[in-house]
Amino acid sequence: MQRALASLATVLADPGAPGAADELARLRARWRELAPEERDALTPLARLAAARVSAAAAPPPAPADDDGYLSYLEGMASTAAAAEADEPPPATEPRSQQVSGRQTTRDLLGSTAGTLFDAAPAPAPARTGGERDPESLLHLLGLTAFRPGQREAVQAALDGRDALVVMPTGGGKSLCYQLPALASDDLTVVVSPLIALMRDQCQRLTDLGHPAVMLASGGEPDANRIALDQIRDGSATVCFAAPERFASAAFRNALAQRTIALFVVDEAHCVSEWGHDFRPDYLRLAQVVADLGHPPTMACTATATPKVAEEIVARLGLRDPERVRSGFDRPNISFDVLPFDGEGSVARKRATLLAGLQMPENRPAVVYCGTRKSTEEIAELLDGAGLTTVGYHAGMNAQQRSLRQDAFMRGDVDVVVATNAFGMGVDKADVRSVWHWALPSSLEAYYQEAGRAGRDGLPARAVLLASRSDLGRLVRFIKEAEVTPAQVGALVGRLRVQAQEGVAELEAGAEGDRIALAVAERAGALRLTPGAGGRLRVELAGDPDPRAVAQLCRAATDRRWQSYRSIEAYASGHDRCRRRQLLDHFGDPAPVAPLGRCCDVDDPPDWLPPIQVAAKRSRASAPVDDGPPVSDAELEPLKAWRRERAAGKPAYTVANDATLREIVRRRPASAAALLEIRGIGPSFVEKHAESLLELLAQ
Ligand SMILES: Nc1ncnc2c1ncn2[C@@H]1O[C@H](COP(=O)(O)OP(=O)(O)OP(=O)(O)O)[C@@H](O)[C@H]1O
Ligand SMILES: [Mg+2]
Ligand SMILES: [Zn+2]
Repeated sequence: MQRALASLATVLADPGAPGAADELARLRARWRELAPEERDALTPLARLAAARVSAAAAPPPAPADDDGYLSYLEGMASTAAAAEADEPPPATEPRSQQVSGRQTTRDLLGSTAGTLFDAAPAPAPARTGGERDPESLLHLLGLTAFRPGQREAVQAALDGRDALVVMPTGGGKSLCYQLPALASDDLTVVVSPLIALMRDQCQRLTDLGHPAVMLASGGEPDANRIALDQIRDGSATVCFAAPERFASAAFRNALAQRTIALFVVDEAHCVSEWGHDFRPDYLRLAQVVADLGHPPTMACTATATPKVAEEIVARLGLRDPERVRSGFDRPNISFDVLPFDGEGSVARKRATLLAGLQMPENRPAVVYCGTRKSTEEIAELLDGAGLTTVGYHAGMNAQQRSLRQDAFMRGDVDVVVATNAFGMGVDKADVRSVWHWALPSSLEAYYQEAGRAGRDGLPARAVLLASRSDLGRLVRFIKEAEVTPAQVGALVGRLRVQAQEGVAELEAGAEGDRIALAVAERAGALRLTPGAGGRLRVELAGDPDPRAVAQLCRAATDRRWQSYRSIEAYASGHDRCRRRQLLDHFGDPAPVAPLGRCCDVDDPPDWLPPIQVAAKRSRASAPVDDGPPVSDAELEPLKAWRRERAAGKPAYTVANDATLREIVRRRPASAAALLEIRGIGPSFVEKHAESLLELLAQ
C-alpha cells in the first residue's frame, strides 16, 4: 500500500517525466498485491494518474499499417466501448468477475490509460514450468494417461506443425490444444462457436495459473475490452474467441501484437456449408491465420467423413497437416436399437422410454426427438410421470435455451428432451443415457448425439427407439432439401438483382439456400466471405458452368441418401453387432472391445422391464406377410404394374410378392406410408413411389 502510494505520488508530481509511464506500469504490477479495500481507496488517484500520463505522453510511433486497420483502431481506441462496436449485442456472458483480480485492475487502469499501455506493453508474467514433453504437460492437469490420439496431437503442436484432429464426441479434443497452450507463454488462440464451453475452459485454465481470456458477443460492456488489453499487454496466454469476433479490427490487431503459439479451430466442420452447423464466420479464419503469419494451426472436429475433412484442410489452408484420427469406439457405452412398428407401437414406445428413464441408473438423460412438437409432447409425458424434465429446441429464445441447459448442467434437471439443436458443446460428463425417440438424419449425427452419454468413462447407454414410420420424415426432409439446377440459377439471379457493385449479403440460415450457395460457389458463380452479424457476403463472379451445377446438385442429394441409408441400415438390421456397424461406418478397423455390455444384438436388452421387450421383440421379428390373405384378383393389377416397372429385368428387382400383398392390405397413400412396409426402401420410393401411389389412388 505504501509503495503504491509512493508510485502514485511520483507519477502525479510529474506525469510528463520520462519515467512516469514505467512507474505506472510498476504500479499496475503491484496492484495485484493490494487488498480489495486498498484498491478501492487508491482507485480515484490511480485513475487520475493514468489520465495525466496518458495526456502528457507523446503519441506512439506509427506502426506499419498495410491494410488501414491500425488507423481504424486508433480512431476507435479513444472511446473504450467503440472498439467493440462492430459486434451485435445478445446473451449475457458474466465473464469478467470470474477470472481474476487482475481484471479489476485492468478495468481500473485500462479504461483511461488503454492507449498508454498499448504503446508500452507489459512483459508477460513469469510462469513456472516450461515443460515441453506431452507427459509432463498431462501431469500438470492432474491426469494420468492420454486417450487415443491425444499424445500425437499435442506433439504435433509442440513441433509447430499444423494438425487435423478427428476424434469422436467426448474423445478429449480440448486437451490436444490445452496442453500445448500450457507449454508456452506466447498466445494460444482458440476459436469455437460454443460460448458456455469456452467459458468453462477459460475458467479452468485461469485457475491453473494460466491466464485465459474470452471474447464473445454481448455480455458486460467492459469484458471484451479488458480481454483485449490483456491480449495486447501479454498477460493473457490463451484467448478463446467466438468466430464472429474476428470481424473486429481491434481484435485482429490485438492478436497481431503477440506471437501466436497455436491457432486452434475447434468444431472445425462449421467451415463446411454442407453441414447444418455451418457458420459463415468460419470462412474468415484462413485469412486471419494467414495475416498472423500462419502460426501452427490445429483444426478439431468429431465429424468423420473424409469429404468434410478435406474441406476443412482446404478451407483453413492447413499445410501438410498431421492427421490425428483416434479410434472411434466409445467402450463404456452400450448400444441398443429397439424396434417399434405396427399397431400400438407408439404406446409401447412411450411406455418403454418411461420405464427406462424411471430407472435411476439411466439418469441424467437426454432424449432426442425429431420435431419441436414431439419434443414438447415427450417432455410433458415424462414430467407427468414425476421426472424433472425440460424441453429444448430452436423455437425457444436463446435465454430460455441457456437457462434450460444450465439447469441440466447443474443437475437440477433429470432429463432434457431436445431436438438436434441441443448438442454441440454439451460437456456434461455424467449423462447416463441418451435416447432417440426419432431417427436422426445420419449415422454420424446419431453417433454424435449418442456420444453425449458417458463422457466420464463410466457405463452409459445409447438407446435408439426405432420406428420405420419415421423413415418417411427423413425422406420428406431429403425431398425438401433437394436443390435443382433451376433453383441454383434462380438464387444467382436473385443475388444479381440485389447486388450492388457485384456484392450481395444474405442470411446463411435456410437449408436450401445454403446448399444452392455451396453449389454455385463450387461451380464458379460466386465467392463467399463472411458479412456483418453472421451474414454471408456474396461476391458475384461469372456464369456458373451448367454441367458442374447439375453434377453438384446430384452429389448433394446423393450425400443425403447415403446418410439416410446409413441410419436406415443401423436401425433396421438386427443381426450385426451395433458397435461393429458404427466402427465400420467410421472406417475404424479395431476389434470391438466394450468395457461392459455391448449391444442388443450381442446381449438381449433385458435391463428393461421384460414384458415390453418381449412384446416388441415378437412384433419385430414377425414376417411381413402375416396379415389377412390377399386374393389373386386384388394382386393382379400390382403384378402388372411391377412387370411394367421392371422393364425386362426380373420382377423381384422391383418388389417381391409378399411386399405386393402388404401393399394391397395397407393401401398406402404416401411415400411415408410406403416406407413402413418391409421390403420398401428409399430407392424404391425414389424410383416407383409416384407411379405406384397413382395406381393405388385409382
Ligand atoms: N486423457 C484424459 N484423461 C481423463 N479424462 C480426459 C482425458 N482427456 C479428456 N478427458 C475428459 O473427457 C471429457 C471430454 O473431453 P472433451 O470435451 O475435450 O471432448 P471433445 O473431444 O472435445 O468432444 P466434443 O466433440 O463433444 O467437443 C472431458 O470431461 C475431459 O476432461
Ligand atoms: Mg470439444
Ligand atoms: Zn455388439
